[in-house]
Amino acid sequence: LSSTPLVVAIDGPSGSGKSSTSRGVAARLGLAYLDTGAMYRAATWLAVHEGVDLADVDAVADLVARAQLVLELAPEHHSVTIDGHDVTTAIRDPDVSAAVSAVATNLAVRADLVARQKQVIAEATGGIVAEGRDITTVVAPEAPVRVLLVADASARVARRHAELGEHVDAEAVHDQVVRRDRDDSTVAAFHDAAPGVTVLDSTELTLEQVVDAICALVPAAYDPA
Ligand code: DC
Repeated sequence: LSSTPLVVAIDGPSGSGKSSTSRGVAARLGLAYLDTGAMYRAATWLAVHEGVDLADVDAVADLVARAQLVLELAPEHHSVTIDGHDVTTAIRDPDVSAAVSAVATNLAVRADLVARQKQVIAEATGGIVAEGRDITTVVAPEAPVRVLLVADASARVARRHAELGEHVDAEAVHDQVVRRDRDDSTVAAFHDAAPGVTVLDSTELTLEQVVDAICALVPAAYDPA
């Protein structure tokens, strides 16, 4: 049996089903859950809240460096608090989604948040599932399970549409997904799997099938006794 806690690293584009999948894997295996996108979103929320110009990379980096970021890591209730503000719901607002790329492309902010993510993973003595864009390559390249989750753009648009609600215009959702892909592709090269990373295409799979496939990648050394 392995003496080190299990780390499952999952990367993928927006709408690949990454969050539901990661939560499902964490719940199934009894692991903690870290949504690193929520950290970039919380940093963005704070910068907007404090009225800091997002184009001022030094000011944003300085603000984030001083911020206290507290994450609750349970897969069923993952919460995010920054400088005492519970922003779990606010970080999903469209204005945060629209602004987050400006913060995620700030290299000093990335260095800061990557260091915090590594620390969270190192402290997760019961094991953890971490999801994002650079988890398999930068944050946890040594993780025993590393997956790049992909899905056809049409499937990702349909999922995002279902998430946002049918009242939202389909074309607007399509544009949003395509634009996010383009903005995010400048952040991390997550469209191509790094060596040793398993590519899983969820286009034709149910959530349960994707969770099954990832759990099947866990080495036997981590099997509960
Ligand atoms: O997964 P998400 O939509 O919540 O991510 C929000 C933003 O943060 C998105 O622009 C991608 C970026 N991000 C990143 O650059 N690196 C990560 N590890 C996670 C998210």
